[in-house]
Amino acid sequence: MSTTSSIQPFVSIFLLHLLTMATSDPLQDTYLQCLTLYSEPSHPISTVTYFPNSPSYPPILESYIRNLRFNSTTTPKPSFIVAPTHVSHIQASIKCGKRFGLEIRIRSGGHDYDGLSYVSEVQFIILDMFMLRSVVVDLEDESVWVDSGSTIGELYHGIAQKSKILGFPAGVCPTVGVGGHFSGGGYGNMMRRFGLSVDNILDAIIVDAEGRVLDRKSMGEDLFWAIRGGGGASFGVIVSWKIKLVPVPEVVTVFRVEKTLEQSATDIVHQWQYVAHKMHDGLFIRVVVSPVKRKGQMTIRAKFNALFLGNSEQLLDVMNQSFPEFGLTGEQCMEMSWIDSVLFWYNYPVGTSVEVLLQRHGSAEKFLKRKSDYVQQPISKVDLEGMWKKMMELGKIALTFNPYGGKMSEISEVETPFPHRAGNIYKIQYSVSWKEEGEDVANRYLDVIRRLYDYMTPYVSKSPRSSYLNYRDVDIGVNGAGNATYAEARIWGEKYFKGNFDRLVEVKTMVDPNNFYRYEQSIPSLASSTTSIMSE
Ligand SMILES: Cc1cc2nc3c(=O)[nH]c(=O)nc-3n(C[C@H](O)[C@H](O)[C@H](O)COP(=O)(O)OP(=O)(O)OC[C@H]3O[C@@H](n4cnc5c(N)ncnc54)[C@H](O)[C@@H]3O)c2cc1C
Ligand SMILES: *[C@@H]1O[C@H](CO)[C@@H](O)[C@H](O)[C@H]1NC(C)=O
Ligand SMILES: *[C@@H]1O[C@H](CO)[C@@H](O)[C@H](O)[C@H]1NC(C)=O
Ligand SMILES: *[C@@H]1O[C@H](CO)[C@@H](O)[C@H](O)[C@H]1NC(C)=O
Repeated sequence: MSTTSSIQPFVSIFLLHLLTMATSDPLQDTYLQCLTLYSEPSHPISTVTYFPNSPSYPPILESYIRNLRFNSTTTPKPSFIVAPTHVSHIQASIKCGKRFGLEIRIRSGGHDYDGLSYVSEVQFIILDMFMLRSVVVDLEDESVWVDSGSTIGELYHGIAQKSKILGFPAGVCPTVGVGGHFSGGGYGNMMRRFGLSVDNILDAIIVDAEGRVLDRKSMGEDLFWAIRGGGGASFGVIVSWKIKLVPVPEVVTVFRVEKTLEQSATDIVHQWQYVAHKMHDGLFIRVVVSPVKRKGQMTIRAKFNALFLGNSEQLLDVMNQSFPEFGLTGEQCMEMSWIDSVLFWYNYPVGTSVEVLLQRHGSAEKFLKRKSDYVQQPISKVDLEGMWKKMMELGKIALTFNPYGGKMSEISEVETPFPHRAGNIYKIQYSVSWKEEGEDVANRYLDVIRRLYDYMTPYVSKSPRSSYLNYRDVDIGVNGAGNATYAEARIWGEKYFKGNFDRLVEVKTMVDPNNFYRYEQSIPSLASSTTSIMSE
């Protein structure tokens, strides 16, 4: 840029950019001219805009594809990608998206299980938030401003750099993006003590459908309510969040214990259902159940992973009182700092440096599918045995049980759009992952997970059969053009939000009547011509 500075007085920066960015594609030029017109000249948007013919386009697009099912040559691709480094880039993308009738997909960490942040059948562009990732910790206020493009690993790392006694209740996987995670709920192993991420948010900066930059005060309480669990992408682009930190003890205790059927896994899982949601709220015991081969025989392995917000002596006491059948021993317990427990929970070997939390990419990517359910009544031993049999028959599939209760039962269902509070004893995640390529293989695994989901019908929540928004599942209903009718959207909307769906529709109708922010599972606006309000 050194040669340009001398002519700056004569040529406006705006014109200069138009000259330097002219390409051989007239449509691209038109897009770029629009983007440049609406963004601040001091932050040239051309340097963060990637068209398909740019060598940077494939690596940027692929960088945050966290499910190989959507990394194929047949996966629909965006017309272009803007990776904002300044809020004016977001505003310009919205104004030009509107002008050219391009739908916007917003991607922060790209962990959407069904790829809705970066795949669509309609013509679309991606606003890729990964460059916006500052984490500013205010120790005095015990709060943090964290940008949407940060990962929760970066957030945890930032907190731990400043304090040994503060933490934040969010997810277990450090590469998850703050943008999607917080706007969809956000749960982790401190949820029984502190609730979800959305229960600990103080403020947010959002760019609305008019391109205005709003904070909590200027957006109002309705919109602020909606983005804390209703999914951000129906309402605007969330730029950053202000969160309230929570106290963690200097020493926490973890354990990981496995039991197979031969080691009474059924009895222990059965009993777990009665106690895990009622015990001490500082204790979170997750169970991962999967079929495994042991000594040539198929069996079921139940892996118990725990975090306790206290030392091992206290933990042994709690377990002895509430869950003696488990037979936890002192040798199975490990004391460590909260930040080390984050690493332990993500299966890093003890002693791994906390710097790994800054790695934005996980290990080998896989093809995958996830689904979710809520359990409200313990499942009998006979029925658990039936489930194990089904899982061994289906093969490569796992169920993860996450206990609720504690703080989760104290927060009202209408406090945030996330409605799965009192009355739920645990949540199930269904997971199947594979490494082989090919449509046939994929269909086989999709069939396996759907069959287990069908099999589970009698044992899980009913009318509606509930799902967790952050475990995105297009099987429960979508509209590919984002113009679902109210009645169509309600099918999946009530599974994710129960009675809160109607309030989300009200907020949507108020803040984005023309349904600009739409995608395959977006909240419909009753005022929009792109949303049909017919068929009730
Ligand atoms: C390996 C793995 C582990 C996980 N572990 C947990 C866990 O422990 N706990 C848990 O609760 N969930 C977990 N999840 C689910 C995760 O919370 C969701 O997938 C979450 O939506 C991911 O956020 P993201 O920003 O990475 O995703 P993205 O794919 O970028 O976005 C997800 C959705 O949010 C929208 N969105 C993203 N950024 C913004 C923004 N800035 N403004 C408006 N809308 C936005 C997207 O458009 C999309 O609709 C896990 C997922 C994976 C893949
Ligand atoms: C995604 O696809 C591209 C293009 O085929 C390929 O180069 C890349 O390695 C793939 N990513 C992963 C993680 O397999
Ligand atoms: C469990 O508690 C009982 C009393 O309630 C006590 O007798 C026993 O020794 C305890 N066991 C362990 C392992 O602490
Ligand atoms: C949604 O949009 C698509 C594509 O424009 C159109 O074919 C479809 O009929 C629309 N659906 C409704 C319910 O309006």
